[in-house]
Parts: sequence; C-alpha cells; structure tokens
Amino acid sequence: MAAERTFVLLKPDAVQRALTGEIVGRFERRGLKVVAMKMLRVTRSLGETYYAEHKGKPFFEPLMSYITSGPVVAMVLEGDGAVASVRRMMGKTNSAEAEPGTIRGDLALTIGRNVIHGSDSAESAKREISLFFKADEIQAYARIDEAWLRE
Ligand code: RTP
Ligand code: MG
Repeated sequence: MAAERTFVLLKPDAVQRALTGEIVGRFERRGLKVVAMKMLRVTRSLGETYYAEHKGKPFFEPLMSYITSGPVVAMVLEGDGAVASVRRMMGKTNSAEAEPGTIRGDLALTIGRNVIHGSDSAESAKREISLFFKADEIQAYARIDEAWLRE
C-alpha cells in the first residue's frame, strides 16, 4: 500500500504555548514520517482560501483573527492511513469534548483555541498541502525504523 499524506497545521496557540515539540513528537512516535515542515505567518488572504468552506459562518471572523494572530507550524506527514490516524490523534474539534489521550483532549480546553488542524480527507490533504508547500519542499527519504512499522 502506498503511504498516504496528510497536512497538519499547529495553530498560533500551539506555538505560543510551546507545544510544538510535544505534538510533533507524538506523530513521530506513532510512526508518521515528517516529509515537510515550516514556520510561517498565515496572512488574511491565505486564511480565507484555507478556510473557504467556513466563509459566512458566525465563527469565521474570530477564526480569521485566531489563525493570523501569530506564527504557525505547517507540516506534511506520511504513513499508512495518515489522514484518519491524525484526525483520531487530534480528537474532537471542540477540545471540551475531546477524549483524554488525544492532542486536544490533553492540551486544549475550548473550540476557539484548539491548537491543531489536520486534513479531514485525502482530497482536503491534497488541496491544503499545495496551499502551503511547493512540490520541491516535500522530502522523499526512508526512516530507519520503516521496516518495523508495518508487516
Ligand atoms: P480544522 O479544520 O481547524 O482542523 O478543525 P476541524 O476540521 O476539526 O473543524 P472545522 O469544522 O473545520 O472548523 C475549523 C476551525 O474553526 C474553528 N471553529 N470554531 N466557535 C465555533 O463554533 C467554531 N467551530 C469551528 C475551530 O478552530 C476549528 O478547528
Ligand atoms: Mg476542518
């Protein structure tokens, strides 16, 4: 099976609260391979494109000020079933309802400051990866433990 790719964004609260290492470490330990990563500031224009599906909703303006409020860390993770596994590791969108053991359930309390985004489908992943990364910013390499991550 070809490894699947997903897009993850550590939101401004994750960076400000110094949770980057903690969250990336969880993905690495799970066996997901980081194939691209950068810190950047989301502009209003990028934010509107990225969250286009939410335009017009009551939380859209607060969401724009949140996502543009400070640096974020964008990454591409690769692994079998990466999209679904990352979503399960993140927990529910509303951190108040996220199970303990999940990223939001362990590290966040509210929906409006929920520390992380992960693609909700393979199609979204493709769209979001291309919004944040050029093809030559994604690395192809083997992890030394790959033989131990699948049968
Ligand atoms: P994301 O896109 O950020 O990974 O989150 P998600 O799929 O779990 O949730 P989604 O429905 O796509 O919502 C996008 C982000 O908008 C904020 N939000 N606020 N106040 C509200 O009712 C509300 N609903 C959504 C959250 O930051 C959510 O992650
Ligand atoms: Mg979403």
